[in-house]
Amino acid sequence: MTILLTGAAGFIGSHLTEYLLSAGHTIIGLDNFDNQYDPGRKQVNVRLFKQHTNFTLIEGDIRDQTLLAGILKRYACDTVVHLAARTGVRDSVHEPAVCIDVNVNGTLSLLEAMKKVGLKRLVMASSSSVYGNSSVVPFQENDDANRPLSPYAMSKRSAELLAHTYHHLYGFNVACLRFFTVYGPRQRPEMAISRFTAKLYGDQPITLYGDGTTSRNYTYIYDTVLGITRAIEHLNGFELLNIGGSAPISLRELVVLLEKAVGRKAVIDWQPNQPGDVYLTSADLTYAKTKIGYFPSVQIEEGINRFVRWYYQSVVCL
Ligand SMILES: NC(=O)c1ccc[n+]([C@@H]2O[C@H](COP(=O)([O-])OP(=O)(O)OC[C@H]3O[C@@H](n4cnc5c(N)ncnc54)[C@H](O)[C@@H]3O)[C@@H](O)[C@H]2O)c1
Repeated sequence: MTILLTGAAGFIGSHLTEYLLSAGHTIIGLDNFDNQYDPGRKQVNVRLFKQHTNFTLIEGDIRDQTLLAGILKRYACDTVVHLAARTGVRDSVHEPAVCIDVNVNGTLSLLEAMKKVGLKRLVMASSSSVYGNSSVVPFQENDDANRPLSPYAMSKRSAELLAHTYHHLYGFNVACLRFFTVYGPRQRPEMAISRFTAKLYGDQPITLYGDGTTSRNYTYIYDTVLGITRAIEHLNGFELLNIGGSAPISLRELVVLLEKAVGRKAVIDWQPNQPGDVYLTSADLTYAKTKIGYFPSVQIEEGINRFVRWYYQSVVCL
């Protein structure tokens, strides 16, 4: 397959690129190396596969519809995996306009470019944040997702709705994958596991918001990549799919696991809850298992150990 992968230089995109190249696919990676976090990290990510004969890197913006249509045509892409986004719930609260522009208008630009060249196969990243503070636990794909708590969640839900419109109007086959807090080597530096690990190694206090009972269904990157590849293989019609880890754990439990893996005790700086944060994310994976054969295999203890090993070798020892 020849796949246009938007956001190829990012955390999930770089892992997916490595996997798809190793499986024999041709990847056209598009990324604008934005400065939401250090673009130097993204350059390091792409260095891993930049020279691969089946990889082409294009530096550009998903909001540039002419560029996208040109790439799809020139490389005769048969599938698009759309990961590029303005990420981060808290950032979106402070900068809603850029979040909506990239995530909603950017997705629209991609859909239009695909329509223009007659390409109808799309796997795209959505987010567990679309469920808001749903009282029905665990979250199922057909639960209400119309009460977003942040511009980011709103933008991800809007992108899903746009994709559904293109499925309805033009027969696009689309899988919207609702990722649940992904972690592992190369995780975005502002995400909790990365931040806490940096603080532990730096002997600095860890700031925890709320009372430590907020919980997340953390997903190891290996499982996320598996979910995306399964979705590509089974792409048919319009699907919303939860791609999560095996079970949620609380913030306090997460810190205990990190303390164990790093071998240091954390000093906690307790702060009130942040606006936009949800209390709990918990994925019901029954539908994803039935539909695409997805189920996570990396338990949180093992995933945290792998992450900390990578962090020690790649960040602390450098
Ligand atoms: N990491 C998670 O826990 C998580 C959870 C839920 C959903 N997601 C979604 O998964 C996707 C990938 O997330 P990630 O954690 O790898 O983030 P990331 O920021 O590491 O990767 C996103 C990439 O998109 C690129 N990008 C941003 N705006 C762009 C634009 N306008 N044009 C072209 N490229 C652009 C960035 O430079 C970056 O390399 C995103 O859509 C995100 O919303 C991630």
